[in-house]
Amino acid sequence: MKTEIVFIDENNIDQDIIDRAGDIIKRGGLVAFPTETVYGLGGDALNRESSRKIYAAKGRPSDNPLIVHIADMEALDRIVSDIPASALKLADYFWPGPLTMIFFKSDAVPYDTTGGLDTVAVRMPVDSVARAFIRASGGYVAAPSANISGRPSPTSARFVEEDMDGRIDMIIKGDDSRIGLESTIVDITSEKPMILRPGYITKEMLEEVVGEVTIDPTILDAACTERPKAPGMRYRHYAPKGDLTVVKGPEDEVVEYINLACASMESSGKKVGVIATGENVSNYSCANIKCVGSRTDEEEIAHRLYSILREFDDEDMEVIYSEAFDEGGLGGAIMNRLLKAAGHQVIDLRQEEEE
Ligand code: TXA
Ligand code: MG
Repeated sequence: MKTEIVFIDENNIDQDIIDRAGDIIKRGGLVAFPTETVYGLGGDALNRESSRKIYAAKGRPSDNPLIVHIADMEALDRIVSDIPASALKLADYFWPGPLTMIFFKSDAVPYDTTGGLDTVAVRMPVDSVARAFIRASGGYVAAPSANISGRPSPTSARFVEEDMDGRIDMIIKGDDSRIGLESTIVDITSEKPMILRPGYITKEMLEEVVGEVTIDPTILDAACTERPKAPGMRYRHYAPKGDLTVVKGPEDEVVEYINLACASMESSGKKVGVIATGENVSNYSCANIKCVGSRTDEEEIAHRLYSILREFDDEDMEVIYSEAFDEGGLGGAIMNRLLKAAGHQVIDLRQEEEE
């Protein structure tokens, strides 16, 4: 398939291009587009064939449901069977924005879009290109992240092209994703809202609006044997090609550990990369070091993390070490993605001392 590649300036949106993209969706085709979290791979959410095409283009298991993107609150009624009061409150505060809510679905949404579930995930992005595109597409765009299944979500148009060129009808190239991590997912179908995937909107932020919020226990505990409620959290997502290990502990010991490990790997001929914070970057003696941002600037770390994992892939890094980050606030979402990318391979220097 020939993929048409177009550029859109978010400060001067070309409506002709947006309308062309919308027509592709209305005719059952696929278009990748920017959002504030990560790039999405869009199809008509109400057309079962489109959803099937999305799974095929990504190489994604079809039991992993898609998020339906809307641009206006009025669009919600048609796709959900009930709007709980908590959802209205959350929408009021966090929509448009990086929050996805799980509702009971209406008959308008095919099971192909929801992976066979009776619930549907809905998000209203804030990105102006995304919103114009959704409106031009008829109002309901099903979109997973625009990566091949198992690769880090694309936070830059060049990564979308890397994965999707030749597989879909059009790629809309815009700016790099401002946030860089996928949306927070909250299930509001039960009495207490439950976070199924941590993201930019934190538990504390949600609780200020709707009171107590729980977190799917499988997110907090890697050893937990229950099934995660968001089917996508079951898979080892975001996996870089290299063998990634996260090193936790006092910062100077982490640096020392990584330096020794790198030296030993490099002497056995391996290509080794390090994900370092700005505070420590000059203390490493390894060959390939990438700075993910200051330890105190979690937004910058979230913004950079996936592109660093992709860059290491492109450089065929065989072994990667990363510093660990604080888990409060946005750090919880960052560590969730990093630990998943590492397949939960962690060296905890504190534990080793205690033993
Ligand atoms: O920020 C985002 O959410 C991005 C952009 C493009 O909007 N999209 C995204 O989609 O991350 P995807 O498909 O990569 O992740 C969707 C997640 C999966 O883990 C999936 O299992 C979960 O949402 N999900 C979708 N529908 C669900 C449902 N009805 N119940 C539980 N989890 C659901
Ligand atoms: Mg994804």
